[in-house]
Amino acid sequence: MSAPDGNAGTGSAPAHIRVEGITLGYGETLVQQDLTFDIRRGDVFVIMGGSGCGKSTVMRCLTGLLAPWSGRVLLGGESLWELPAARRSALMRRNGVMYQSGALWSSMTLEENICLPLEQYTKLAPEQMRAIAEYKLALVGLAGFGDHYPSEISGGMRKRVGVARAMALDPEVLFFDEPSAGLDPLSARRLDELILELRESLGTTMVVISHELDSIFTIADDAVFLDAETKTMLATGNPHELRDHSPVAQVRAFLTRGEADQDAAA
Ligand SMILES: Nc1ncnc2c1ncn2[C@@H]1O[C@H](COP(=O)(O)OP(=O)(O)O)[C@@H](O)[C@H]1O
Ligand SMILES: [Mg+2]
Repeated sequence: MSAPDGNAGTGSAPAHIRVEGITLGYGETLVQQDLTFDIRRGDVFVIMGGSGCGKSTVMRCLTGLLAPWSGRVLLGGESLWELPAARRSALMRRNGVMYQSGALWSSMTLEENICLPLEQYTKLAPEQMRAIAEYKLALVGLAGFGDHYPSEISGGMRKRVGVARAMALDPEVLFFDEPSAGLDPLSARRLDELILELRESLGTTMVVISHELDSIFTIADDAVFLDAETKTMLATGNPHELRDHSPVAQVRAFLTRGEADQDAAA
């Protein structure tokens, strides 16, 4: 199926998600302005920047939870915030989201947690739902853990269950808000590997919020850098290339933990 927004210009495939000049905030408070970037289908795209710069806010806008003040978000060519609410809800159902808190229901087994979105949005029989939950658990390396409760597994495993739940409805885009927050370095590394494995095997577009450099350099094909001070994006591109070649000192500083700053003209 060809996307209606075939105006990528460079002859490349049309973007899966196109962000066109969005400005957004809460009430009167501006968070980010004039954001324009494309997320290619099948890429791992990282939204990066320091704490409080507005990464989660931008994600809320891309996932249909927060309307921008101006600008457009095109999802497969459809303008998310110009659609009737019912159509927007239908599009949102094609996204899987793993939130920062990753909250699982502690009184429910892992399998029951994963079945929740299936119960909410499908009319599948209970056995079918259980089979899907088992399959998703296997995809994240937790085959056979369906009867466990969240308190019985490690923090890294709980994050994996959050991923499995986000994948319950076979999403076209998976969003992760700081997936490795609070994990030890080894578990964080394994979660990065899981993200890459799933992208490889399922071809899902992944949008990941992160400020952790190890993770950013490991997983990102492409990225956007949001700046808290100027309240806009300062760069977009592959993080390795931005680190080595970005003309913007703040971007190089962020990607080198400040080391590039020493060489930059003040
Ligand atoms: N629900 C909200 N209402 C008002 N202000 C908010 C809300 N959520 C976040 N903010 C503010 O918006 C700014 C960006 O927050 P956020 O998007 O969470 O940043 P990040 O994810 O990059 O750490 C912060 O100043 C934060 O205090
Ligand atoms: Mg955040």
